[in-house]
Amino acid sequence: MKFSGSGEATARGMKIQNNKIVRDIYWQERLKSLQHPQGKMRAVVAANQLLKNLYEDKKKPLRVIELGCGEGHILGDLLKLCAADDVPIEMSVGIDSQPDAIEKAEKFYPQTEFILADYVNLSVDFQPFDLVMFVGTLHEIYSSKYSTQLMEINQIVGQEAVFEAISNNFPIFKEHGYILIFDGVDHSLPGTFELTIRFKSKESFNEFRKFVDEYKAFQINYYQTQQNNCVNISVHNFTRYITKTRFINSDLWEIEKWESYQYFKRKEFIECLEKLDFNILNLDCASPHIESWKKRVEILTPKVNFPEENILIIGQRKS
Ligand SMILES: C[S@@+](CC[C@H](N)C(=O)[O-])C[C@H]1O[C@@H](n2cnc3c(N)ncnc32)[C@H](O)[C@@H]1O
Repeated sequence: MKFSGSGEATARGMKIQNNKIVRDIYWQERLKSLQHPQGKMRAVVAANQLLKNLYEDKKKPLRVIELGCGEGHILGDLLKLCAADDVPIEMSVGIDSQPDAIEKAEKFYPQTEFILADYVNLSVDFQPFDLVMFVGTLHEIYSSKYSTQLMEINQIVGQEAVFEAISNNFPIFKEHGYILIFDGVDHSLPGTFELTIRFKSKESFNEFRKFVDEYKAFQINYYQTQQNNCVNISVHNFTRYITKTRFINSDLWEIEKWESYQYFKRKEFIECLEKLDFNILNLDCASPHIESWKKRVEILTPKVNFPEENILIIGQRKS
């Protein structure tokens, strides 16, 4: 294990490091998404397909890096798929700022090099990579821009930080190299658009009230309508509520309540990557938990759908 960069962990990262039980549950939860065909598994399958095509084209062993790799499961699964397809990987690297995660990753996947570092300020002198992956990590960069003055995440500063986290890593891409991002995605309606929603049970309404009282990443405003069990709420806050509720009664809530999974809409992801000189090759959204959301709550505003939960986006450097 090497150390490089400032290694500044996010506030959330510190909380995980300080509590072993929560830390274990945290990583079990990440694994669930990896095993879900509509979750992170999509990122691994898409990365494998991309490397397969690239190898068929170039006939040269490939180089891949994951920024914010955690315990290394994404890279581990990707390397397994590549081995099964006879796609040779010259080098695979994982970077993370959590020492425990890097230590475990090294034990689980000895064929990969893992480095404890802050990927926003990487000072490692790498040969460039064919594929650079950010899987479920950029929302942590965004969420770390909590403002004690605003008492919520500073959205503008957070979005700029996400842009910077990608652009600072521009030098590690090969010419015409590829980027893969998998993360939360914001509702495509304007954030201030108001929805009327109806809770389907007393329990779900109580759960919503608990969310409103305890969620820290944003202040959640709503007002009750004349109809029973109905509230008006902005689409911005509704999206955070609906994508976070599954954590409310778990030990992970202490961590999750400080985070927003969403920082860009589809269109903002495209704008961000185009500004950084990438062509978008693939964009695909999914909602793995929509059935459980529908059991809890109904959207009464006509023609408004539940938000998409995650986005997988692949881009290629224009030069
Ligand atoms: C939700 S986990 C995802 C881990 C892995 N990509 C996966 O999907 O299993 C996000 C990871 O990003 C890491 N991370 C966040 N900000 C970071 C930074 N600035 N530098 C390095 N790692 C960072 C966290 O430590 C955490 O392990």
